[in-house]
Amino acid sequence: MSSAIQLSVDNAAIAVTKAQLDAIAPEAVSAMHTVEQGTGAGADFLGWVNLPSTLQPALIADMLATAAVLRNECEVVVSIGIGGSYLGAKAVIEALSDSFAAYRHDHKGPKMLFAGQNIGEDYLYELMDYLDDKKFGIIVNSKSGTTTEPAIAFRLLKELLERKEGKEAAARHIVAITDARRGALRTMADKEGYKSFVIDDNVGGRFSVLTPVGLLPIAVAGFDIKALVEGAAQMEKVCATESYDTNPALLYAAVRNCLYRSGKKIEIMVNYNPKLHYFAEWWKQLYGESEGKDHKGIFPAAVDNSTDLHSMGQWIQDGERTIFETVLSVDATHHETIIPTDAANLDGLNFLAGKRVDEVNHMAEIGTRIAHVDGGVPNLRVNVPMLTELYLGQLIYFFEKACGISGYMLGVNPFNQPGVEDYKRNMFALLDKPGYEAESAAIKARL
Ligand code: PA5
Repeated sequence: MSSAIQLSVDNAAIAVTKAQLDAIAPEAVSAMHTVEQGTGAGADFLGWVNLPSTLQPALIADMLATAAVLRNECEVVVSIGIGGSYLGAKAVIEALSDSFAAYRHDHKGPKMLFAGQNIGEDYLYELMDYLDDKKFGIIVNSKSGTTTEPAIAFRLLKELLERKEGKEAAARHIVAITDARRGALRTMADKEGYKSFVIDDNVGGRFSVLTPVGLLPIAVAGFDIKALVEGAAQMEKVCATESYDTNPALLYAAVRNCLYRSGKKIEIMVNYNPKLHYFAEWWKQLYGESEGKDHKGIFPAAVDNSTDLHSMGQWIQDGERTIFETVLSVDATHHETIIPTDAANLDGLNFLAGKRVDEVNHMAEIGTRIAHVDGGVPNLRVNVPMLTELYLGQLIYFFEKACGISGYMLGVNPFNQPGVEDYKRNMFALLDKPGYEAESAAIKARL
């Protein structure tokens, strides 16, 4: 088994030549220096660049000790957060978990659930109804400490927990992850005496998976956060080199910018392993919020194959040729399942008897790649040796570093998200939040 994830861009050659890639290399290296030296827009948010190699063992030990309390004393732990304060943990936990963990009675440790990533009333009602007779804990993640969705979920679940256990006992099972000084959540954590962790000012939400925001829920779910950080630290080294041959982040950023400039405006993240669905959601958020600004940016989309070959497959094969694909290809599974022989062979499937399910899956992947390339869809591939903490850590850092480089090549500030404020302003005006009186009348006139 390879010791690292591998990026292959050979099948993008239908749209990007080696000469084009060579020509853009100085620009890519310069964008990488801008990230590393903090000389570009958003330089206040580069704390993630050296995070894996500088994460303090004492912080890891503190997270593991906190996770142990929640694991030992809770049947369910709800991680509350949205965007970057949700997707990293969700992606890693889904990628590493048994697909049916939620239904197993012999499941070790607490069930991990998520809230605050939506404002669904039924979702929250049903969650509270489920938690009503459970011993549960809460991890509340919000860098700003003021985001509406997690704040609503936290108010509801905190009230439920305090009603069930009393204020003091409830506080033992609430952990807050937020800014060191600012925001309502910091005030609450200090006043109520919650165990808390800090998100450093210089790490933005979508780059925070290797801080307690991602690591604590992952540790509570029972996964090895040291191996995750070690994988990221390995990629931190590799992704600081200045050649396409050694640095996959540099190559990925360069290829996707060449593709964008040639009219490929949509990138589809493809997986052939359902455990990677939320990894693609994390990637979509990372790239969408980082690059989609100033009326520029590749639109990040995702499909789960082979499921979506029976829906989006038609569009990808045959629709408008403005797309390219990046496939997350997992080399080895954790389990073997052999397709059995059937004497009657009524389904005509005996040609597959004796083969592993994963061989069929790989042939679906290769067959699709060839069909899509023949159909004019450039194909990038990231080979992942196996879904383990180490390789997920590598993948996370690889995509983060490439995102910073790619954003600067695109000519945007990859570390802000000014567009996210617009819906909030309208929502607050519609809900009569104090301070929004002026906007309120104008927006209500448009109802
Ligand atoms: O990447 C980002 O900055 C955002 O997606 C945030 O993570 C998200 O809006 C949640 O913000 P907060 O952690 O402040 O509640």
